[in-house]
Amino acid sequence: MSATTRTRTPGPRHYLMCRPTHFDVTYAINPWMDPAKPVDTGLAVAQWESLRDLYLSLGHTVEFIEPVPGLPDMVYAANGATVVDGKVLGARFRNAERAAEGPAYLDWFRDRGFEVHDPAHINEGEGDFLVTGRYVLAGHGFRSSRDGHAEAQEFFGRPVIGLELTDPAYYHLDTALAVLDDDEVMYNPAAFAPGSRAVLERLFPGAVLATPRDAAVFGLNAVSDGYHVVLPEAATGLAGQLRARGFHPIGAGLTELLKGGGSVKCCTLELRGPR
Ligand code: ARG
Repeated sequence: MSATTRTRTPGPRHYLMCRPTHFDVTYAINPWMDPAKPVDTGLAVAQWESLRDLYLSLGHTVEFIEPVPGLPDMVYAANGATVVDGKVLGARFRNAERAAEGPAYLDWFRDRGFEVHDPAHINEGEGDFLVTGRYVLAGHGFRSSRDGHAEAQEFFGRPVIGLELTDPAYYHLDTALAVLDDDEVMYNPAAFAPGSRAVLERLFPGAVLATPRDAAVFGLNAVSDGYHVVLPEAATGLAGQLRARGFHPIGAGLTELLKGGGSVKCCTLELRGPR
């Protein structure tokens, strides 16, 4: 069956989110952040609440972690950990500004009885680890380390496919690639080193390829449940490509959170239960 004629069925998902109560841009650790630009925290909260309500209306379960004062990037829950088969690999951040988020997220999981692994090497959670049916796709070049990839492979017992990111605007894998279904992805080829691009072509020959324009509005920072694909509303070209494949794209307005260099996926950590 071709990708276009495939029947799409949404699977109910389980997410963890963090309200942007303390969201601000007070430092710059990616090219999207400009501390001189004003941030409207109230607007960020309102936009985040619409994303949360959208997930709930789609039948997903959403849990919340208490935001910590002084950690303005904590809203980007995707970076807090990676959860596969109910096992939690904690995050260890590259930048000192975000270091305290690692233990904060790990405690949340530990308090709820999850099997947790405190990482020895740098990995920024689902910012750089994206899970397909067979693999963990893993970004490196800006944040997560190759040692962090190896640690994830041993912990999860799944093949970790390292992919080198080369454009600082797409510093996390989830800004350049999104998993749509167990064996389907969409990505921005221009964000990857040539060898990594060849790996993606080999693993996902029919993938949806984003235009530079859709990539630049963070269109790849998307969350799919196998049918509904929630993505930044400005990525209209990508939405059309997804519709043609039988997906149901839903645009979300998270412009205020884009000032920190994040959007839909960054605000969403998927809690994958045991099989
Ligand atoms: N300001 C944050 C950083 O640069 C944004 C993180 C976005 N999150 C993501 N999953 N890409 O670390």
